[in-house]
Amino acid sequence: MNPRDVEMWQEACTVADFSDEEMRECSVGEQQVLLVRVGEEFITCPALCPHLDEPLVFGMVDGSVLTCTKHAWQWDLKTGDAIGLAECPLPVAAARVENGKVMVNLAALCNAPTKI
Ligand code: FES
Repeated sequence: MNPRDVEMWQEACTVADFSDEEMRECSVGEQQVLLVRVGEEFITCPALCPHLDEPLVFGMVDGSVLTCTKHAWQWDLKTGDAIGLAECPLPVAAARVENGKVMVNLAALCNAPTKI
């Protein structure tokens, strides 16, 4: 593994903080991210909706679909693709688990969509 790659992964929380399909907003460095457990996977995305900055933690998850409850924009968390009313994709990245810690790579989220 590239040593530079190791530096990009930071602890967000622990696996014990989650139950099935629960989402949590976490501080990683100076950034807030949303972590969602989808089955056995953890997926990270920005904490705020790209539409009007509603905290996505107030949204709903059904399978791999995240819905912002403010105006019902939806995304597939596995791809970040917009669904239905959503007008832009959501940056998503797989998180990984190391020794019970959920690790996120903020660099993977750096291509946030331009706000509309
Ligand atoms: S603020 Fe999220 S859909 Fe409008």
